[in-house]
Amino acid sequence: IYRAAIFDLDGVIADTARLHLQAWRQLADALQRPWAEDTEEKLKGLERMASLEVILGEKSSKYSTEGKIALAARKNSRYQELIRSLSPADLLPGASELLAWLSERHIPTALASASKNATAVLEALGISGYFSVVADPEMSAPKPSPDIFLAAARSLRIDPEFCIAFEDATAGIAAIKSAEGMTAIGVGNKETLAEADYNIESLTEFTPTDFFLSAIQAVS
Ligand code: BG6
Ligand code: MG
Repeated sequence: IYRAAIFDLDGVIADTARLHLQAWRQLADALQRPWAEDTEEKLKGLERMASLEVILGEKSSKYSTEGKIALAARKNSRYQELIRSLSPADLLPGASELLAWLSERHIPTALASASKNATAVLEALGISGYFSVVADPEMSAPKPSPDIFLAAARSLRIDPEFCIAFEDATAGIAAIKSAEGMTAIGVGNKETLAEADYNIESLTEFTPTDFFLSAIQAVS
């Protein structure tokens, strides 16, 4: 029954969630901000300025808007340094196989990432060609708003109810679940992503024929 696939990037396709966290952790340490047990989960999927607010916590009001922009830019420079060495080896397990499978069957595929660095990461991983649509995070409200997933579906010209979307973050699953009937696949921890319609540890566990059979039949 599904006709299109929409992917989050960091932590689903690319092993970059840890690089975002590393860059934020450095900033938190430099600012002497605490790093709590749930900080990592809170930061996943959040756009840049919202992530900075998590880091600053109750000290947020001590910083001016310009000061915050400078701090976010500092984190981004560090992140960009970290992704300079990305290569196809940093694709997460099952990602390139699944993308190739979808592409061979002409199943429309989109990216719905909060990251303004997404295009550069796709290039570095050598997978840009698999995506017919890369939704622009600057044009959508941040996750957990469903905006970016709806924008991706709209660009693909497929109704949300026929789209299946992959996410590793609770904010992302919430976004998909409020995207007009879209189906959410949680990639990673089953307990933290309990709101998803289906849960898998990694993309290697996803069996595309279970979901896209009718799309294949329609093509052939
Ligand atoms: C998301 C990541 O994909 O993009 C977050 O999960 C990150 O960790 C967000 O903060 C924004 O990324 P960027 O590259 O625009 O700062
Ligand atoms: Mg993610």
